[in-house]
Amino acid sequence: MSARTRPITTTEGVRPFTFSEAALAECRALMARYPEGRSKSALIPVLHIAQAENDGWLSVNAMDAVAELMGLRRIEVYEVASFYSMFNLHPVGTYVLDVCRTTPCMLRGSDDLIAHLEKKLGIHAGETTRDGMFTLKTVECLGSCGTGPMLQCGSSYHEDLTTEKVDRLIDELRARNRRANYTDR
Ligand code: FES
Repeated sequence: MSARTRPITTTEGVRPFTFSEAALAECRALMARYPEGRSKSALIPVLHIAQAENDGWLSVNAMDAVAELMGLRRIEVYEVASFYSMFNLHPVGTYVLDVCRTTPCMLRGSDDLIAHLEKKLGIHAGETTRDGMFTLKTVECLGSCGTGPMLQCGSSYHEDLTTEKVDRLIDELRARNRRANYTDR
């Protein structure tokens, strides 16, 4: 298993990042929604696109490309990317499992669910399985408190979870073997 959970703050040994033409067009369309001088409001969705184009994480190279595209200072991009749990600042698995651990989900068994996932995947929260398939994260409320315990994987919510449901989900994802991004539609 890999325990690499700290942000990677160097460009050394990290592959360069360039947006694809399609992603660039999407980013520009998002920025154009805002009045002149206010395109920074598109930063979060643009970061999501950059993350999806960079195997699910934001390297310094990717964040710098976002800064350049949006005409922002690099630190402005780093600040936002390092604040929100949905942005990964180190390489992640094909699937990132964001398990909610806030009180309503906790009262409905999220601790047991996390313990089950840790045992099943052979990793601790914050780590990635050795085969690069799953990263397990614990996050704060995802706004689905009435259907906890729950987790998010890419753009999908999985709710009212039990250990059996989670086992099925892991098997399905493993069989699908296709990266899940928050930008999936
Ligand atoms: S507390 Fe888990 S979704 Fe709100």
